[in-house]
Amino acid sequence: MSTERLPMVVPASGLPDRVRIYEVGARDGLQNEKGAVPTEVKAEFIHRLADAGLTTVEATSFVHPKWVPQLADAEQLFPRVRDLPGVELPVLVPNQRGLDRALALGADRIAVFASATESFAKANLNRTVDESLAVFEPVVRQAKDAGAHVRGYVSMCFGDPWEGAVPLHQVARVCTALRNMGCDELSLGDTIGVATPGHVQELLNLLNEEGVPTDEIGVHFHDTYGQALANTHAALEHGVTTVDASAGGLGGCPYAKSATGNLATEDLVWMLHGLGIETGVDLDRLTATSVWMAAHLDRPSPSRTVRALSHKDQ
Ligand code: HMG
Ligand code: MG
Repeated sequence: MSTERLPMVVPASGLPDRVRIYEVGARDGLQNEKGAVPTEVKAEFIHRLADAGLTTVEATSFVHPKWVPQLADAEQLFPRVRDLPGVELPVLVPNQRGLDRALALGADRIAVFASATESFAKANLNRTVDESLAVFEPVVRQAKDAGAHVRGYVSMCFGDPWEGAVPLHQVARVCTALRNMGCDELSLGDTIGVATPGHVQELLNLLNEEGVPTDEIGVHFHDTYGQALANTHAALEHGVTTVDASAGGLGGCPYAKSATGNLATEDLVWMLHGLGIETGVDLDRLTATSVWMAAHLDRPSPSRTVRALSHKDQ
C-alpha cells in the first residue's frame, strides 16, 4: 500500500472547511451482494471503517429478511458494533416492526427511506408514496420520543428507471413531508446515478426556496455514469457538508436494477483532501479495508483511488 501518494493540497474558494462523510458501505454496499457476507466479516468491516476515522457508519437495516436477505443478520450484527466509541451507527427501518427491532437493540440513530416516485415506492416498500409516508409518520415520532436521531432518505430524486425524469416539485414534496414529521436530516438519493451538477444545484435551490435549510441536507450519489464526484462538488459549492459514500464503491440497490455502486469513499476522500477539506479519514487505512473486503467478495473494488493506491508499482 502506498503511503506516499497523497493529493497535493490546493484549496478552492467557496467550499466548506470540513465534510462529514456518512459511510454506507456496510448497508447500501452489502445489501446488494449476491452472496451473504458472514456476520463476523461485516462486524470487522465496520470496526475497520471506524478505525480508518469514519465517524458515521450506517450499520445495517431492520427490513424484512425476505426482501433483503443479505442483511437478515441485523440482530446478530448490531450488538457486535454498537459500543464502538465515538461512532454514530445509523440503521434503516422501513416501518414500525423495523423500529421496534432497532430500538430493542439500543439503536439511537435511525433512517427511514421514502421515494420521490410511485414506481420505486411500490418496488422498494410495497406501498404508494403517500402510504409509505403514512407508515413513517408514527415511526419518526416514536423514534424522536425515544431520543433517536432520524434521517429521511428520498430515493430517485434525479431520475427513475421506470418513470424517467422526476419533476423537482415531486422530490420537494416528499422532502418537506419527511421534514414536517420531524426528520433531523434528509439524504437526496440519486439511486440510479443519472444526476448531473446543474440538476443537483437546481434541486438544492428549490429545497431552500421551500424552506429546507442546506445544513439539514445530505447527498447520496451513485456513480453509474461517472458523475458522482462532479455532483458532490456541485453540492459542496452550494454549502452541503454531509456526503454519503461507500468504502470501495460497494453498492447498488436490490430493487432498482440499474443502480450501480455508490460514490466510493476513497475517491471522495482523495478529492476532499486535495481541496484541503477535513474529513478525519486516514486514506491508507480505508484503502486497506476496501482491499481486504474485495478479497472477501472475490472481486476487485471498482474505486479508481483504491486501485491506484493498492498497486505498488504504479
Ligand atoms: P410487506 O410485504 O408489504 O410487509 O413489505 P407487511 O407490512 O405486509 O408485513 C408482512 C410480514 O412481514 C408480516 O409478517 C410482518 O410482521 C413482516 P406476518 O405477520 O405475515 O408473519 N414484517 C417484517 N419483519 C421483519 N422486519 C420488518 C418487517 N416488516 C414487516 N421490518 C416492507 C413491506 C417495507 C417490510 C418490505 O417492503 C421491505 O422490507 N422493504 C425493504 C426494501 C429495502 O430494504 N430496500 C433497500 C433499502 S433503500 C435503498 O437502498 C435506497 C437508499 O440507499 C437511497 C438511494 O440510493 O436512493 C437508502
Ligand atoms: Mg443508495
